[in-house]
Amino acid sequence: MTCFDYQAFRQQFPLLQNQLNDQPLIYFDNAATTQKPRQVLDCYQSYYQEANANVHRASHQLSARATQLFEQARVKVQKFINARAVQEIIWTKGATESINLIAHSWGLSHLQPDDEIILSHAEHHANIVPWQLVAERTGAKIKVVTLDEEGRLNLTSLKAQLSSKTRIISVAHISNVLGRINPIEEVIALAKTVGAISIIDGAQAIAHMELDVQRLDCDFYLFSAHKMFGPTGVGVLYGKQTLLENMSPYQSGGEMIKTVSFSGTSFNTLPFKFEAGTPNIAGISAFGATIDFIQGHSRPLMADYEGLLLSSLLSGLDKIRGVELISKGTPDIPVVAFTISGHHNHDIAAALDSFGIAVRSGHHCAMPLMEYLNLDGCIRVSLAPYNSQEEVEHFIEVLNKVVAGYNDANPSNSLLVNNNASDVLITLFENTKGWDQRHREIMMLGKQLKRMPKELRNEQSLISGCESLAWLSSNKNDQLEYSFTADSDAKVIRGLLVIVLAAYNHKTAEQILAFDIHHYFDRLGLIQHLSPSRGNGLLAIVDKILAIARKASI
Ligand SMILES: Cc1ncc(COP(=O)(O)O)c(C=O)c1O
Repeated sequence: MTCFDYQAFRQQFPLLQNQLNDQPLIYFDNAATTQKPRQVLDCYQSYYQEANANVHRASHQLSARATQLFEQARVKVQKFINARAVQEIIWTKGATESINLIAHSWGLSHLQPDDEIILSHAEHHANIVPWQLVAERTGAKIKVVTLDEEGRLNLTSLKAQLSSKTRIISVAHISNVLGRINPIEEVIALAKTVGAISIIDGAQAIAHMELDVQRLDCDFYLFSAHKMFGPTGVGVLYGKQTLLENMSPYQSGGEMIKTVSFSGTSFNTLPFKFEAGTPNIAGISAFGATIDFIQGHSRPLMADYEGLLLSSLLSGLDKIRGVELISKGTPDIPVVAFTISGHHNHDIAAALDSFGIAVRSGHHCAMPLMEYLNLDGCIRVSLAPYNSQEEVEHFIEVLNKVVAGYNDANPSNSLLVNNNASDVLITLFENTKGWDQRHREIMMLGKQLKRMPKELRNEQSLISGCESLAWLSSNKNDQLEYSFTADSDAKVIRGLLVIVLAAYNHKTAEQILAFDIHHYFDRLGLIQHLSPSRGNGLLAIVDKILAIARKASI
């Protein structure tokens, strides 16, 4: 039996040959976006070097070349998903825009007050918010289907929600958190029984399984190129021709018209009616190369290989104390979401990042799902065929270390009692090598911070702009020197709070305002390594202290 040659596959991805903070990069955030192979990068670049012109409109050769690449990519997509006609393939900038297009063009003109739109609890925000906006404008209602224990859409619940008022059923083929294939064949058949349209969000499915939209017989299917090794800013909306023909344009301008006059405008034929303005020609050409790339590999072999990685990952996680998978059983694609009891998911993700391992933590753009599962958030590991068994094993080893290392907290606030705490920290950080060591120091500092009394953790002390919950309160002594106390639900933020408090504690308002905090962060080597949201969180803490000092010095 031939097996999947992951090394040859991986070799084609230049970014994966790089190091991150002097360590090999382990990229386990593929459900967010995938890396791009050389073939796709080359096509992107060569488009600009050899074929750059606007499509469709000009009579010169360069435009003909650009148009050919652009339209060839459309035919490749048509064949890739087995659509009946090329007119059924509409270019968008991603899955999100595809859903917005349907919501506006179909939803606004077809929905009446009290009509019903059915979604599930596991939808990505992209398949919730457009419907909420359309429901607000039309008076339609949203109904939500529950999930079974394994995280699949519950057909009994769907049947119970169906009625003669159901006009739309819009669900994910695979949830970006639960990794389960939903029974979309049944969903599509049930939609037909009440005359509703079926919309399938294939953003996660498209990279992991073969698709035949004619066999599925759904009304709409949509996805983004960037989750299947293609460029960002390119998406596909597949829709049945009869439906698309009867829909009004989504955006308007050039390209989507036949004739324009102040006495009236007529619209272009499909698919151009939905493609106003100059499209992402380079991205779409490169998406054509992406489809060639995928078709150059055996999809069943890739899926088998992903299955092997997934079972190693699950058996490794099973041995780590406190790990709880958020749904029962084995996901259908290598997307695994879990929590670790006693640990904030951002702490775990930040610690893994310090070892060069990229995973995702938070709500994964599925806040209603988190609410449904009664979770603040979770950690998500999502794999692709360029990942390896060695990476999975290394990840499990590091995660074990991280979890074991955080269990010996002994909070004391001892550093913060010290008048020279900021100098102590500068010396400490100057002696660390690399971001991983610095990150460990931050986590250790987090442990030093005593929990703030519950009654002080309130609306007033809350620091807005922080990625995790964080609170700050202040006291002034007779010499008008401040002492700040702070807390957060994430250890990494607690560590950052210690760093900020070390700079500002035991200072008067004037001294606080005069202190050069950016120089201090620079000397600690902090800002450039913090994620934008966490970096902003650090600055939000500083802003809150400066506001207190400014108020006092007026
Ligand atoms: C299931 C699902 N739907 C929709 C989206 C939105 O995709 P995009 O941001 O590419 O528009 C995502 C992205 O993570 C997703 O996972």
